[in-house]
Amino acid sequence: MSVKLNRKYVSRFVGDDELFAEKDAVREAYEQLYSKKENALGSDFHGWLNLPENYSREEFERIKKAAEKIRKNSDVLVVIGIGGSYLGARAAIEFCKSKNYNIVEKNSPKIFFVGNSLSPTEISEVLAICENCDFSVNVISKSGTTTEPAVAFRLFKALLVKKYGKDGASERIYATTDKHKGTLKEMADKDGYETFVVPDDVGGRFSVLTAVGLLPIAAAGIDIDALMKGAYDAMKQYDNSDVMTNDCCVYAALRNILYKKGKNVELMVSYEPDYTMMNEWFKQLFGESEGKDHKGIYPSSVVYSTDLHSLGQYVQEGKRQLFETVVIFDEPKCDITIEADETDGDGLNFLAGKTMSFVNRKAFEGTLLAHTDGDVPNIIIEVSKMDEYNLGYLIYFLEKSCAVSGYMLGVNPFNQPGVESYKKNMFALLGKPGYEEMAEELSKRILS
Ligand code: PA5
Repeated sequence: MSVKLNRKYVSRFVGDDELFAEKDAVREAYEQLYSKKENALGSDFHGWLNLPENYSREEFERIKKAAEKIRKNSDVLVVIGIGGSYLGARAAIEFCKSKNYNIVEKNSPKIFFVGNSLSPTEISEVLAICENCDFSVNVISKSGTTTEPAVAFRLFKALLVKKYGKDGASERIYATTDKHKGTLKEMADKDGYETFVVPDDVGGRFSVLTAVGLLPIAAAGIDIDALMKGAYDAMKQYDNSDVMTNDCCVYAALRNILYKKGKNVELMVSYEPDYTMMNEWFKQLFGESEGKDHKGIYPSSVVYSTDLHSLGQYVQEGKRQLFETVVIFDEPKCDITIEADETDGDGLNFLAGKTMSFVNRKAFEGTLLAHTDGDVPNIIIEVSKMDEYNLGYLIYFLEKSCAVSGYMLGVNPFNQPGVESYKKNMFALLGKPGYEEMAEELSKRILS
């Protein structure tokens, strides 16, 4: 098994009997996930569950072809999207390749992610880079109407038209959006962009294994067949509701038990900086799925040992509302052996002959013991290595754990009603037609 949950360091906080006592709650949550009943909570967003098996082979091949074309004709790929239409692709590229992908991958297009903020500084920088090179754009928006990517797309489209003419620009734009509706779909049809589909029954944060993630991932030279194979094997592996043996159910149950014991902050921990964006993806997945009805664990993240030098003090001795979930890899991507030094001026000869991965492992073990001694429960997720196959497996594991956990909590894990509030206010304050009344009321409350 490529991903394995280890309960050893949480067992002092949650006993076997407590876990077993959740068996009915887990089964009910699990059944909700497969419920075919009309109007069952969230049932129209269960498409990701069978995605590793049930996806369009025709589109998958088109994704590979489009990725190949981008790799041949572009120095830069600009990926425009936000939230679920952004984080998965970036996380996968950094996980499989490197967080320094744009520097270290010499034979691949550089990939810049925009449309995930409204910062003029960020956009200007990437526009300036694109002025002087050949580039393509993958604009991703399920709804096709989200403001941040829509504004960015307008700017990059204008630059493409300036450089390549209208038809040339259309040749370099790839739109990933709804199959039938939305502004982006209408623009794509009108201007003839190649389009890819975000399936109706797959929500943004569960969409990394659709074209949303797959096109940028493939454009980075990552093997998407291996990624899907990992997810497929995970789908087969986690295909039951047993609270003691299905790790998705174990993780979901542990989270809910810890939450009931007052542990309402989960720190996702990694010892690999290339995992940083996976942490961001995880935070959206769990935060947006569970944080509603005034309930939910607050998902947070750290990369150790970096953050042991900033947040380590709090984790060790601060308020005890935390638990840690540590993702640890059996094999590093590469290794370095520390050499003996004749003078031993730095006093590090006791490490001579040892590898950096060994030292990193000891940092993990030391921290694990210190934090559990400090009353921070630790759930360990052991993953074989940082490659495509294991990433697909891990993604599916986390998605399914999240869904079961959300149903156990009693919320709909597949909606995000709260995300709309800021958008309405922003539209009113920007003067969007239809928001006039709201604009008047809000303007009285804004500091001038
Ligand atoms: O998970 C979600 O649904 C959200 O984070 C969306 O992915 C995000 O708001 C972007 O939406 P869209 O793809 O419609 O532009």
